[in-house]
Amino acid sequence: MTVLLAPRLPDPTVTISGVRFAAERLQDRARVDALVDEAFGPGRFAKTSERVREQAPARLDLSICAWAGEELLGAVRQTPVRIGDTPALFFGPIATRADQRGHGVGAGLTMRACEVGAAAGETVVILIGAISFFQPLGFERVPEGRVSLAWPTDYARLLWRPLTANALDDVAGALSPRV
Ligand SMILES: CC(C)(COP(=O)(O)OP(=O)(O)OC[C@H]1O[C@@H](n2cnc3c(N)ncnc32)[C@H](O)[C@@H]1OP(=O)(O)O)[C@@H](O)C(=O)NCCC(=O)NCCS
Repeated sequence: MTVLLAPRLPDPTVTISGVRFAAERLQDRARVDALVDEAFGPGRFAKTSERVREQAPARLDLSICAWAGEELLGAVRQTPVRIGDTPALFFGPIATRADQRGHGVGAGLTMRACEVGAAAGETVVILIGAISFFQPLGFERVPEGRVSLAWPTDYARLLWRPLTANALDDVAGALSPRV
């Protein structure tokens, strides 16, 4: 008899220089929310990124927390979206604890989130953020006119990264939730 096993994502947990990067669990949600609130303040709810995230839930298995023991150092979430017909991951929010910045946790979270997305078969990560932080991590500006959002958007901050070769070649259209 043949038994088909459902595909299972590899455990995303890795430890680098004493920092453990692991998928967000349900019980982490309140701590991640508190960290993000502290990093961005109440103004974050006015952001276009929040409008996108209101449309569909983040995927916890593709959202990463950085831990030192039981201490949460930082976190990033990823939400499934489409660009035109192409599935993509909407990256963010990303935040690291104020007293932990500049030690590589933000870069580690970004790289791990992309690796875990790629392992899940995703091909494109898109976000609204600072090019100065994300360009060294493989992101580039979305060419003008390729992607449209339904809300007022600073398109100079719309960045994407391919997770496989040539993944961006034919991607264009409106960004919409993938539910
Ligand atoms: C942005 C943030 C997540 C970076 O986290 P971090 O743990 O300090 O990041 P890292 O230590 O991995 O920094 C990686 C590199 O990015 C640089 N960097 C850090 N924050 C940056 C920022 N806001 N803009 C530009 N570059 C930045 C660092 O100097 C470092 O450069 P180096 O490798 O040449 O030293 C953190 O500052 C944060 O939580 N900020 C508040 C929330 C926020 O603004 N998030 C969204 C950003 S678009």
